[in-house]
Amino acid sequence: MTMKTVTTIPELRSVRRALPEPVGLVPTMGYLHAGHLSLVRRARSECASVVASIFVNPSQFGPNEDLAAYPRDLARDLDLLESEGTDLVWTPTPELVYPPGYQTWVTVEGVTRGLEGAMRPGHFRGVTTVVAKLFNAVQPDKAYFGQKDAQQAVVVRRMAADLDFPIEIVICPTVREADGLAMSSRNTYLNPDERQAASVLYHALTAAQAAFHAGERQAERLRQVIADTIDAEPLARRQYVSCADPASLEEIQGEVGSALLSMAVFVGKTRLIDNLLLE
Ligand code: PAJ
Repeated sequence: MTMKTVTTIPELRSVRRALPEPVGLVPTMGYLHAGHLSLVRRARSECASVVASIFVNPSQFGPNEDLAAYPRDLARDLDLLESEGTDLVWTPTPELVYPPGYQTWVTVEGVTRGLEGAMRPGHFRGVTTVVAKLFNAVQPDKAYFGQKDAQQAVVVRRMAADLDFPIEIVICPTVREADGLAMSSRNTYLNPDERQAASVLYHALTAAQAAFHAGERQAERLRQVIADTIDAEPLARRQYVSCADPASLEEIQGEVGSALLSMAVFVGKTRLIDNLLLE
């Protein structure tokens, strides 16, 4: 089957209706890399049909964030999706998703409070609103998200359960560059020196993981290992470092059983996030 690309919701619904089920959905903001494509590949392996969306969602960007600068290359994205066997791509415009008079928002409470939610007010309200709209428009059987955005994965799972979406949420492992840097569309903002420095996020996570495997169980010590590793890199500046409960996302005080280690770090002007699960 050749890939179809549609913009409006009526077109989307009519092509969707004819697709063999189960249908897998891969929501993206485009500028695709191997991380995104790993989601498409997983969907391809588990579903009869694969739908992808490409939409740089304005409502999840803060007023001082990089909405205007966010990288875009639709022609290349469509080639990549086609070569991965995608059946249908939805590329709506902001006006179709948020027409004049739009005033309905989906907000998840507890798990959006810390981490990215604390640093980026309104971010998850934008994410959950657009993901709910994607779920309603596409009505997939399964939807694929990356562990790279660990809090987003927890928040989307919560929303799908709370709003009774009959959709299985599948979380796929973080795909990394050879030096450990998690793939991200935002890595394109890094100059060559910054790009080299950016592997410090992964090195900090693996240093804390090594400490954990060597018997360190104090959350504060694990946070300190990450912080010290980041601070040793002159081009990197920590925004937050966390060792949190993987389900509630609340910061752990004292003894660690399982944990989500996560951080946001500025490398030059570029804000990068990464995480690792300790079990
Ligand atoms: P975007 O940043 O384009 O990411 C789309 C999906 O790809 C997300 O589920 C993200 O976690 C996953 N992803 C990104 N980098 C990855 C990597 N290195 N390894 C594995 N998966 C990776 O996340 C968003 O868009 C948006 O918030 C969206 C969910 C589309 C809502 O607008």
